[in-house]
Amino acid sequence: MKIAIMTSGGDSSGMNPAIKKFVEYSYEKGYEPYFIYNGLEGLIDGQIKKAEYKDVGGIIYRGGTIIRSSRSKRWFEKEYRKKAYENIKKENIDLLIILGGDGSFRALDIFYKEFKVPFMGIPASIDNDLPMNEYMIGVDTALNVIRCAIDDIRDTASSFNRAFVIETMGRECGYLALTSAVANGAEMCLIPEVKFNLENLKKRYLKEISEGRSYFISIVAEGLKITEKIKDWFEEEIGFEARATVLGHIQRGGSPTVLERLRAAEFIETALDNFEKTPNKIVTYYKDKFILRDLDEIVNSKYTLDERMLQLAKPLMGLN
Ligand code: F6P
Repeated sequence: MKIAIMTSGGDSSGMNPAIKKFVEYSYEKGYEPYFIYNGLEGLIDGQIKKAEYKDVGGIIYRGGTIIRSSRSKRWFEKEYRKKAYENIKKENIDLLIILGGDGSFRALDIFYKEFKVPFMGIPASIDNDLPMNEYMIGVDTALNVIRCAIDDIRDTASSFNRAFVIETMGRECGYLALTSAVANGAEMCLIPEVKFNLENLKKRYLKEISEGRSYFISIVAEGLKITEKIKDWFEEEIGFEARATVLGHIQRGGSPTVLERLRAAEFIETALDNFEKTPNKIVTYYKDKFILRDLDEIVNSKYTLDERMLQLAKPLMGLN
C-alpha cells in the first residue's frame, strides 16, 4: 500500500512532526510512504518521491514543512487537476494524506468529486478556522509566538504613556486575536465576527486614564483591515500617543510546542489507523477527541468561535 503525504496552503509549525510521524508509522504498519513536494503545485508537476527514515531525522523541532507548500492557481483549471491525477496513477499511490486548511480542503473536494482518489485530511493552519474542529496543527505555536511578542511589546509600552495596536493574522477569522487578547490581558480586542463599540471603550479608557492607567495593549485581527485606523483613534479620541505593530509571518514560524508535536502524531496515527475501513475523511479534533468527518460536512459548514471565549472578551470589545 503506497501512501503519499503533502502539505498545502499556508505552512504551520507542527507540520514537520506530523511528516516525521507519518514516515515512521507508515513503515511500522507495513505501508510505503511517499512525499509530494511543493503542495498542489508539486502534485501537478509530479514531484513525488519515496520517503525514507533518513529524510525525517532531526526535523521534529523545526517549524515550516520540509516537503514545502504552495498556493496553486493552476489547480482551479481542470487540465492541471487531470495532470495531478495522472501523476498519482503513474506512481500507483493508493492514498493521499493532505495537511492543510479550509482552502486546501475545498481544493481536495473538487479533486475527489472528479477523480475519486482516496484521501485523509488533517487540519493544519494557524488560522483555526475549520468548522466542527477545535484545533488545527500550528495554532498553539502561533499563540505562543503572539504571547512572546505581546510580552515584549508590554515592556516598552509600560515604560511610556502609549497605546500599542497589535495586528494578528487569521484571514477572516478572529480566533488568534480573541484567544491572545484574553490570554494576555489586553485592553482591547477587535475581530471580524463581533460588532464592537468604540464609544463604550472610549468612556472606559478615559475613566481609567483619570485613575492612573498609563498604557494600552490592543489586539486587532487582520481581517478587519483597521489596524492603522485604531492607532489613529487612540491618538485622536483618547489623546494617547500610539504605535501599530503588524506581527505578520513570524506567527507562522517557530519551533513546534509540545502540544503541537503530540497532537500532530495523534492526527497521523488516527488517519493511518482508520483509512482502510473509513477512507475519505477529515480527521478533526473536537471536545478532546479525534473524530472522522465527511469532507462535504466540513466544506459546507461555517466555523464558529468558542462562546465562552467570546463572553470573556466582551468587555475588550466595548460590549459590557
Ligand atoms: O492562512 C494562513 C495565513 O498565514 C493567514 O493567517 C494569512 O492571512 C495568510 O496565510 C497569509 O498568506 P501568505 O503567506 O500567502 O501571504
